[in-house]
Amino acid sequence: MTEARLPRPDSDEVHLWKVALDFAPMAPTAVLETLSAEEHGHALRFRAEIDRTRYVVRRWWLRELLSAYVGTDPSELGFIRGPYGKPRLVVPDVGWLRFSLSHSAGVVAFAVATGREVGVDIEWERRDFPVDQVAWKFFTDDERSRLGRSSSVERVEAFFALWTRKEALVKLTGRGLAGSESSPSKGPLRAEATCAPSLCLPDVREWSVCGFDAGLGLAAAVAVEGDHCRVPATTRELSLAAMRGRDSARALPTVTRFGWDRVQPTGHRGNQSTGPRPGDVASL
Ligand SMILES: CC(C)(COP(=O)(O)OP(=O)(O)OC[C@H]1O[C@@H](n2cnc3c(N)ncnc32)[C@H](O)[C@@H]1OP(=O)(O)O)[C@@H](O)C(=O)NCCC(=O)NCCS
Repeated sequence: MTEARLPRPDSDEVHLWKVALDFAPMAPTAVLETLSAEEHGHALRFRAEIDRTRYVVRRWWLRELLSAYVGTDPSELGFIRGPYGKPRLVVPDVGWLRFSLSHSAGVVAFAVATGREVGVDIEWERRDFPVDQVAWKFFTDDERSRLGRSSSVERVEAFFALWTRKEALVKLTGRGLAGSESSPSKGPLRAEATCAPSLCLPDVREWSVCGFDAGLGLAAAVAVEGDHCRVPATTRELSLAAMRGRDSARALPTVTRFGWDRVQPTGHRGNQSTGPRPGDVASL
């Protein structure tokens, strides 16, 4: 155990963090040694080097961030996934910690909460995104007609504001696309609300959702179980200095490539000391 370096969020607040993935937090070897064998295996499934590298770097940051909250070495953290893929920290089994992450266009955002489920989504507001086709499939009549009344530039922004709210909610429930038959994403959601009023869902007592600022060109939203939750208007930048203290503050080198063949994970013990729980089908 090391000492927790970040205070856990109060029960009525969410912490939001973001970091750019194209800068290496550490030397590539040190990054790879922090990850589990499963994470190595997952990384190898990406065809494009940039996707693989971004995956590795975001897993590294996830471990570094959660480690700062729970006071365990990053390489010793253990996760399992829910039936539709939502990851959960099980080693150490601190009980209180809930988190969600989302990445887009080389940026990753993390949401951390205490004792209440959370879902976060960020999306690059691509001007060439087929807004109308996707809205036709996933949005309600009212939402579509609201989009239809906007100019083309506003339409992209309005679309992503709503889309990220819906995705954040999907991620809160942990169901994802595979479990979306009764998904809240297909129900109405008030895009214009800064914080939607609590609504009832079948398996989540009530929830709140709101947008936040993740940077230029990105739409972002976070959904939280329950109501009366304080959500910051903008994210905090993740940095080694924030995680490990001032001595670690330094310029980050651009990630070029990792030595995949040479480096094997070492010293990782997190996944071996616990078995899956009911409802969890895969470990990572
Ligand atoms: C699960 C899902 C939400 C992931 O979203 P995405 O935009 O592809 O990717 P993001 O970067 O936002 O999130 C990826 C992270 O979500 C987490 N995640 C994976 N499955 C998840 C699930 N079922 N629930 C919550 N979080 C999940 C993981 O941490 C993953 O990170 P990793 O790649 O490092 O493991 C997406 O695959 C999905 O099923 N979406 C539902 C689609 C839909 O019905 N949309 C309607 C909206 S109107």
